[in-house]
Amino acid sequence: MQNIVLVGFMGTGKSTVATLLAERLGWNKVDLDTSIEEAEGASIPQLFTEKGEPYFRQAETAALRRELEGRTGQIIATGGGAVLAEANRAIMLANGLVVALTANVETILSRVQNDPNRPLLQGNAQKSVPELLEKRKHAYDFAPAKIDTSDKSVEQIVEEVIRLLG
Ligand code: S3P
Repeated sequence: MQNIVLVGFMGTGKSTVATLLAERLGWNKVDLDTSIEEAEGASIPQLFTEKGEPYFRQAETAALRRELEGRTGQIIATGGGAVLAEANRAIMLANGLVVALTANVETILSRVQNDPNRPLLQGNAQKSVPELLEKRKHAYDFAPAKIDTSDKSVEQIVEEVIRLLG
């Protein structure tokens, strides 16, 4: 048994896919943002406004280590920006099967519109999603596997991930 790490832009379905995958495999689902919130005793928007993004990114790396290193059977739904640090990419690759979920911009917008829990979108997803997508267009290329989630059911995506496990 190993670990599965789901990476991808906000709204690509990481958390939903992780939940069903965990059910199917009988593994443990970990939402990295929730793990950070529990460790810090603060919500993600609070961490961004009260401590700043660099602090949040440090907490994110610590959470990734805590949830992955020396562990197996973990299915980690990471935050969209967890792939930005080289150190994080190395931790992911060394400790699990990294699968990048992708989706087209319309699908992402329909999923993240008006979500107050995503501080980077600052209440203006129509403008910030395309900008951030452009900035991060190669950020997920390091993942050895990629699944487009735009026109697929959660069940289909989960089957694809299970097939990747071999
Ligand atoms: C972020 C994505 C969020 C969360 C934080 C920063 C990002 O997670 O970690 O708001 O930098 O893309 P989701 O991808 O689950 O929305």
